[in-house]
Amino acid sequence: MLSIGACNNSGEKCSFASQYCKTSRMSQVIRLKSDLKNAIYKLKKSNASIGLVPTMGALHQGHLELVQLSMERYDVSIATIFVNPIQFNKKEDLEKYPKTEQADIQKLEEVGCDYIFIPNAAEIYEYQPKINLNFGYLEQILEGKHRPGHFNGVGIIVMKLFGLVNPDGAFFGQKDLQQFAIISALVTDFDLPFTLHLAPTVREASGLAMSSRNKRLGEEELKTAGVIYSTLQSASKQLVQGVSQNIILEDAMLLFKNTAGIELEYFEIVDAKTLQHKSVVNEGDRLALCAAAVVAGVRLIDNIIIEI
Ligand code: PAJ
Repeated sequence: MLSIGACNNSGEKCSFASQYCKTSRMSQVIRLKSDLKNAIYKLKKSNASIGLVPTMGALHQGHLELVQLSMERYDVSIATIFVNPIQFNKKEDLEKYPKTEQADIQKLEEVGCDYIFIPNAAEIYEYQPKINLNFGYLEQILEGKHRPGHFNGVGIIVMKLFGLVNPDGAFFGQKDLQQFAIISALVTDFDLPFTLHLAPTVREASGLAMSSRNKRLGEEELKTAGVIYSTLQSASKQLVQGVSQNIILEDAMLLFKNTAGIELEYFEIVDAKTLQHKSVVNEGDRLALCAAAVVAGVRLIDNIIIEI
């Protein structure tokens, strides 16, 4: 048994225990790439497996569950907090993105996350990226279609974090299903040597998918936003019952039209893996119902995956 006093809180393998201490250590906050590289070097030398959880902060239970999954699976977990400017295609969205650094650190310490990397933009983008990532058809559909340049920005920051951390596993949420698809493409196309993990969407009691952007909504607006999940749910039921996709989409659009204060951007039924449309649905198919809508200027996305 490891006693709290025995832990040297160094991030290196504790000399008092055969396992890494998961509960008694304060999180180590790192702000510089050079310090992160040093910490990673030591961890690798001691053969610790590393789980990476990239985030943009304003943490909620959805983020924390990713960290907990990482902690269960890997010796050491590193959460990153960085509001990545190059993935925002609207200046206002970037400016209004909630920033709650002290509360985030406290939450990560409470769950026992080992390291928290919180760089600033000058540190991360010391050199202006010269590359431009294009994810082919994934750029033309769903989020790609509505947020030009977004996935290039996501791709660049996650590749930087993969390069800096050299993880054994990295954790992402199903809420951002298309983001997971583009990150999977990076891992496959560049033969990146680690495992990607997809974690289920964590929801509010109302069903609304937790999101940092929910912090920008008032009580009434949060209620209005609930129509996203309720419509996804009723559409999934219809799909399982064999109702035609056209009728399901018409019904869904009507539900949004009849709800004041929300504007639907898209509601689509796609293959859960390729994210492409399937005109014919067969038994055993896994489908994703994906929606994006704007409430009080705040853009929210959600999806449900079902098996037919
Ligand atoms: P962010 O929106 O902070 O999300 C960080 C991670 O948490 C992502 O993998 C996201 O899918 C996951 N997540 C968000 N809400 C969730 C929920 N309700 N349940 C489960 N997981 C959830 O996604 C990003 O940041 C950025 O694009 C990033 C990958 C960090 C690159 O900048």
